Formats: sequence, structure tokens, C-alpha cells
Amino acid sequence: MCNYDEGCRGSLTPIYDFINSYRKKQPVRFHMPGHKGKSFLGFEEFDITEISGADSLYEAEGIIAESEKNASLLFGSSATFYSTEGSSQCIKAILYLLLSSSDRQKGKRPYIIATRNAHKAFFHGAALLDLDVVWWQPEKREALCSIKLNISDLEQLLKEREEKPIGVYITSPDYLGNVLPIRDIADLCHKYETKLAVDNAHGAYLHFLDKPLHPLDLGADLCCDSAHKTLPVLTGGAYLHLGKNTKQTLQKEARQALAIFGSTSPSYLTLLSLDYCNRYLTFDYHEKLKLCIERIRILKEDLLEAGWKVEDTEPLKLTLRINYLQEQEKRNGPWLAEKLETEGIYPEYADPDFLVLMFTPENGEEEFLSLEKILFTISAEKAAWKTESRQPVWKEEKRVQIISFREALLSQSEAISVESAEGRICANPMISCPPAIPIVVGGERITGEDIKLLQYYGIEQISVIRND
Ligand SMILES: Cc1ncc(COP(=O)(O)O)c(C=O)c1O
Repeated sequence: MCNYDEGCRGSLTPIYDFINSYRKKQPVRFHMPGHKGKSFLGFEEFDITEISGADSLYEAEGIIAESEKNASLLFGSSATFYSTEGSSQCIKAILYLLLSSSDRQKGKRPYIIATRNAHKAFFHGAALLDLDVVWWQPEKREALCSIKLNISDLEQLLKEREEKPIGVYITSPDYLGNVLPIRDIADLCHKYETKLAVDNAHGAYLHFLDKPLHPLDLGADLCCDSAHKTLPVLTGGAYLHLGKNTKQTLQKEARQALAIFGSTSPSYLTLLSLDYCNRYLTFDYHEKLKLCIERIRILKEDLLEAGWKVEDTEPLKLTLRINYLQEQEKRNGPWLAEKLETEGIYPEYADPDFLVLMFTPENGEEEFLSLEKILFTISAEKAAWKTESRQPVWKEEKRVQIISFREALLSQSEAISVESAEGRICANPMISCPPAIPIVVGGERITGEDIKLLQYYGIEQISVIRND
């Protein structure tokens, strides 16, 4: 399924081999980090810095470059780069690469076409790079995390503008697990000679399906995967992948692009974990993934039968629609999350309409059974069956960008209560993770509809530009 065996000439785990042999020597460490390899939490002896032989992430040509090459062979990319600061770092690097590789007419402001459910790293990147955004507006929006899109609207945007965008940026899968038709979108982008970048933070595993559905398999030019979200990798571990047809120049620049947005002390524990994951993916992962997906499919079927509203998502997510609120009765995402948590089961995300659970092959059968047990008990009460969303209407088309993201982010700002924000200009959308998707973005005037939506999602404060 992957051409790893043919392509990998050296070790499967060069970073692990190096660190393991270093720690076994019980070296005298007159170098960072300050724990000196002594055990405080138990993993310190594996945590090193750029000592000789350990390579250096942003100038990699030794064990890190070798390990990245292994990852590239596994994913079928033209090049893969590690990030220890998540897809958040990769997204900013992707925007930088799109900008630096675009041919623009002098004096014209660069812009990117993007979908509105972007993670906040996108907005930070656009502000730092002073990019404008033209929104590929949703056909209809009914949720914070997901949007329904019409491809002909993208074609219209690509056709009607004289100046080419630096690229098209989409999020797929999104936080609720919906996937976009990436192949069609990629074909359209290429027809109009622009690049497709995909925030695939939630979909690293998609390449390892029987029928691979990773953005690289479907024609994307650049994408990022949060390895830590769906693979057994420590938090922060992510990949920046370049598609099969990307130019050599982009490959050369990618490392520097990541360096611009990253720390000069990337975590070796995270690099070690990314490295070790290549081994995990090489052996029986494909089979384990298949079994896990089949188990989730059965769970979904049983839940549907029991009356739950199960969303149609990518295979490793279970998204339940639950939103019934009456004076005496409260049945919504946070309510369900609390019910599960009292049984020791912790979901990924809950909002007033949805609850999201994320699975990997590392969830054992007993974990499936305990989840099933509590969900069946709740559905036996029949209350979960009703749905009646009170979500205010999204009026995306009414939004007005008054100043650029950059100007907004760098302006004098103040945090005020959402209820008093109508008419003010948003400086920085304050929305925490998960899902870190802004409702109103920097530089936009806040409308009455925005306020209703912010309140609906429990957001009480917003950063606005000061009036004085
Ligand atoms: C859709 C999406 N993109 C990007 C990110 C950022 O990923 P990371 O946490 O790896 O920086 C997230 C984080 O939750 C996300 O949900």
C-alpha cells in the first residue's frame, strides 16, 4: 500500500536509534535541557537538544531529514516536513509558501480564497503576512464547524477576478468530521492555474484507508496533518506535506517557512514520537485501522437503531446531533458530555448541537463497550431522540470587512462583553480550542446576528478596536 519498503534505505527510526543509544551511554550532559536527563516525570532521558549527531529541525540533513524522508515515502508526498508545534505552525508556513511562490502584479494586494470555517491559525497567518481573504461563501451555514459549499461558487470566484489568488484554502475534514470533494476542488484549482492547500489536521490517517482519501491522494498541492490528532504521536507533532507535483523551489523553501513561525527549540520528544510513528504505520497499521473502522461502523449502526442522530462523517469520528432544550429538560452537546464524563468517558468536543468522539485503533473493545453502555442507557430514556436546534441564522453574506486582518490585529484593542459589541470592529476573534473557529473575524464590523451567534456558542468576551 505504501512504497516504503522500496524507498527506505536506512533505519526505520533514525531519531529513536540515535536518542536511545545516547541515553544508554549515560552521558554527562552539560547541555540543555536543564533536567540533564535525570528522571522527574520519567521520560527526561529521551529529551535532548541539538547535540552533535542529533541534527537540527530547520537545517535538517541528518537523522531528522532521514526520518522525514521515511514519512514522505509512507504518505506518498514529494516532501514531508515535521512540525513540533502542530498544524498551527504548518498552516502559517503554507500561507507563506503560497505567497512567496505566487506571481503577483506590483502594487496589487495578495489575496487567498478560503472557506469560512478555518481554524484561527489561518487568521493569524493571514494577519502576519498581510493577506486579504476572499471567502468561498457557504451555500448554507448551520454550524460553527461545518459548512456546505457549492463548487460552482468557487469556479465563479476563480473566473470573475482578473488578479489570480495566491491559492485556495479549505478545511477537510472539519471538526465535526465532514469531508469536502477534494478531487473536484483540486481539478478546478489546477484548471485556473492556482494551488490547493488543505487543512487536513484531522485526517492524517486517511492515506491508510483501503481506498486512500488523504488530500495528497486527491490532488492537493500542500497540506498539513496534525499527526497527534489521529495517530499515536505526542501533542504538537504534525506534518507539512507537499504534493506530488510541487516544484523543487517550494521544497527548498518549506523548511525555512516553518522556521519563521516556530521555536528555535523544537521538542525532541515530539520529533522522537513522529519518528517512531513511521514504524507504527509501516507494519500492521493498515489492518488495525480497518478493524477499528469496522467496529465504529457497527457502533454507529447500533446507535442509529437506538434512536441517536448520527452524522455522516469520516470514519474515525462519531458525531451525534443532540439539541433539545426546554425549560425543564436540557439535552444538548454539553449535557451529554457531562453525562459521559461522570462515567469516566471524555469526548473530544461538544457544542449546543453536537457531540464529537474521536477514535483510533488504540481504543480497545472494552472502551467501545463502556461507551455503548452509557449511550444505550441514555437513549432508553428516549429523551435524546428529540432535536430542535435554536441556532440563530448565519448571515455570512452580510459581513463587511472594514480593515485588513493585519491592521485589526495590530490595532489598539480592548476586550468587551459580547452583548455590548454591536457596531464595533473586531480586532481579534477570541475563541478558544476546541474548535478555535472564529464567528466574526478581525477587521469585520460586528452585527446583531453575530452577537446572537457568539452568545449561542457561549462566547462572552470579544476583542474590539478601541474607539479613542
Ligand atoms: C481544523 C483544525 N485545523 C488546525 C488545527 C490546529 O492544529 P494543531 O493543534 O495541531 O496546531 C486544529 C486544532 O484543533 C483544527 O481543528
